[in-house]
Amino acid sequence: MEVVVLDDSAAVASLAADTIEDVVRRRAAANTAAVLGLATGSTPLATYEELSRRTRDDRGPSYAGVVTFNLDEYVGLPDGHEQSYLATIRREFTDAVGVPPERVHGPDPTEETLPSAGERYEAAIEQAGGIDVQILGIGSDGHLAFNEPGSSLASLTRIKTLTATTRRDNARFFGSPDAVPRHVLTQGLGTITRAGHLLLLATGEGKADAVAAAVEGPVSATCPASVLQLHRHVSVLLDEAAASRLVRLDYYREVYADKPDWQGI
Ligand code: PGA
Repeated sequence: MEVVVLDDSAAVASLAADTIEDVVRRRAAANTAAVLGLATGSTPLATYEELSRRTRDDRGPSYAGVVTFNLDEYVGLPDGHEQSYLATIRREFTDAVGVPPERVHGPDPTEETLPSAGERYEAAIEQAGGIDVQILGIGSDGHLAFNEPGSSLASLTRIKTLTATTRRDNARFFGSPDAVPRHVLTQGLGTITRAGHLLLLATGEGKADAVAAAVEGPVSATCPASVLQLHRHVSVLLDEAAASRLVRLDYYREVYADKPDWQGI
């Protein structure tokens, strides 16, 4: 795993934006569609803002041929609810950079067809050729997407029940923990680790313990984000606060400072 410790959240957003644009440009040069895995939550917002700003300033690539897949979706929200993750990702990112709406995907939470939603989502990702780069946040309880502690490391897209911790963390979007849906559809840890490149973003002191467990703890369903250790191409982009409980901090800094140019982003 590549662990990159940056000065602040703006630097994390800037490097994450560089990474996304690099994939979009490389795919366009090869006349193929870049497939981006997108995460909601607060952490990636600065990255989405940075990418939107570059597009507004005419410095960004074209997103006309890009396909996106969200990590997860709430179950049980009324149609068109502003906190649905599909609505959120369009509002916060894809509309601003110009990904055509029909190319923006999320797990389908329609009540009547829920039993097949996971399988259909897996098939859609596969049909698009798989995810090139997957943006990830991390929960304060170590969850990845909505794979809560105890999730199988091999899991595929399915229904999960949120923990009280996650409902409390997400209450800010709904007014109270009780208003946060209890059920979600989420890509599994097995789904996530099929992506070509995993880009975990974490900022702030509140993530420091979860980051340390994910990066330096044992691989265990108790910390679902520790599954990253099994992947061949992971970049963990952290600000100083989120990196503060890592034991091998000095080594990560040394490795990044000496990174050969030919390795790219
Ligand atoms: P956050 O959420 O980016 O809003 O902190 C991350 C997560 O819960 O996965």
